[in-house]
Amino acid sequence: MKIVVCIAVAAWALSCSPGNPPFSRQAPASLMSTAPTPAAVARTGLGTVMADVARRFELSGRAAVANRFELAEFEAGEIGELFETDVPAAELPKEGPTAHIPGMAKAFLATNAPDLQKAAASKDRKTFDAAFQRTAAACNGCHAASAKGFIQIPVVAGKPVPEVDPVAPTEAAH
Ligand code: HEC
Repeated sequence: MKIVVCIAVAAWALSCSPGNPPFSRQAPASLMSTAPTPAAVARTGLGTVMADVARRFELSGRAAVANRFELAEFEAGEIGELFETDVPAAELPKEGPTAHIPGMAKAFLATNAPDLQKAAASKDRKTFDAAFQRTAAACNGCHAASAKGFIQIPVVAGKPVPEVDPVAPTEAAH
């Protein structure tokens, strides 16, 4: 037994010795010279992250309507993760007011995302519907503040996100 351990240790020591590195810790020069500097890496736009948020919010609502509450809870959790990492890292829109976005996104992460997730975990449709409505109101609040009020998030679960139902011609022509 002792001999086996000794051999194993010796083999490890050999493979790790400086003269015989198991792998190179540095990227080859050719790779390093072409690697983009961090500043050159394009940041994902907030709109792209939002498209993902919207898909998951719609799916969460449709799942709850179908009594698939585990899926609804999963999607709500994913929305929280998007607001935790992707939204703060995203590039803000170039047009419209944006100063409120970081603060409102933080509030959404702290309040609405866990609210929706907990409601889904309760597996109670009424509880979920109420949380869905509160969440959609928060989505719409930020869109309105961003001069993007036309991106309307339905307050009722099961509908496409965002709203694309036809509107009256007079309203559409205003
Ligand atoms: C903190 C502010 C904020 C919150 C909260 C927020 N949004 Fe947005 N959302 C924006 C902004 C700003 C834009 C416009 C981005 C742009 O101009 O590229 C946007 C765009 C969108 C778009 C359009 C994406 C596209 O490019 O087609 C959808 C859909 C959307 N949001 C859904 C949602 C949903 C669903 C929620 C809630 C679950 C939500 N948003 C919460 C700020 C927010």
